[in-house]
Amino acid sequence: MSTTEGEHYFTARPATADERRELHVTLAGRELTVTTARGVFSGDRVDRGTAVLLPHVEPDAEATGDVLDLGCGWGPVALTVALAQPRRTVWAVDVNERALDLVRRNAERLGLDVRAVLPDDVPDDVRFAEVWSNPPIRIGKPALHDLLHRWCTRLPPGGRAHLVVQKNLGADSLQAWIAAGGVPDVDVERTGTAKGFRVLTLTRR
Ligand SMILES: C[S@@+](CC[C@H](N)C(=O)[O-])C[C@H]1O[C@@H](n2cnc3c(N)ncnc32)[C@H](O)[C@@H]1O
Repeated sequence: MSTTEGEHYFTARPATADERRELHVTLAGRELTVTTARGVFSGDRVDRGTAVLLPHVEPDAEATGDVLDLGCGWGPVALTVALAQPRRTVWAVDVNERALDLVRRNAERLGLDVRAVLPDDVPDDVRFAEVWSNPPIRIGKPALHDLLHRWCTRLPPGGRAHLVVQKNLGADSLQAWIAAGGVPDVDVERTGTAKGFRVLTLTRR
């Protein structure tokens, strides 16, 4: 999936004009206004796959520990977790710097503490109780596998990763790769299926 003018959404510094827009969305049951832009993934609405993933984030006022939104775009997943689970420390990573700027602005506007940083800027010793992701399937299978390995090996025992993947874009083969040990020491199950998307949940043994 590209943005406009053939440029991929995972460009570090999008060449498209940085035209910001206001978007009215419902996240964690709250009607909100967020800022999005051209040159980031799904800047004109909450993506259909993301909309399948978000109801899996349960409100939990007591939950603590670090959570990662892997490939955050303008931040619908990170913002939802921060709203639903306010005691969490939420990290949002992306390679697209425009996306990170949007997450920071959106979080600040909502009074939320979200650490939106480039992947290499997450300290090595941080472990994630949960990882949430609408992952960048379009980067290709080898890069996607490396990405999932890199971040899902930072779950502690019992930690969980929730991924939404379009069935037509290889959700079942991705599940098979994980189950075959592509991500070591995890069990993987399908915890949701809707509108052509699967939600895969990995639990670290
Ligand atoms: C399918 S989009 C999902 C965006 C957002 N979470 C949402 O739901 O709208 C995947 C995101 O992963 C980002 N991405 C691509 N390669 C990445 C990498 N190596 N590390 C982190 N994020 C990456 C892309 O820039 C894009 O924003």
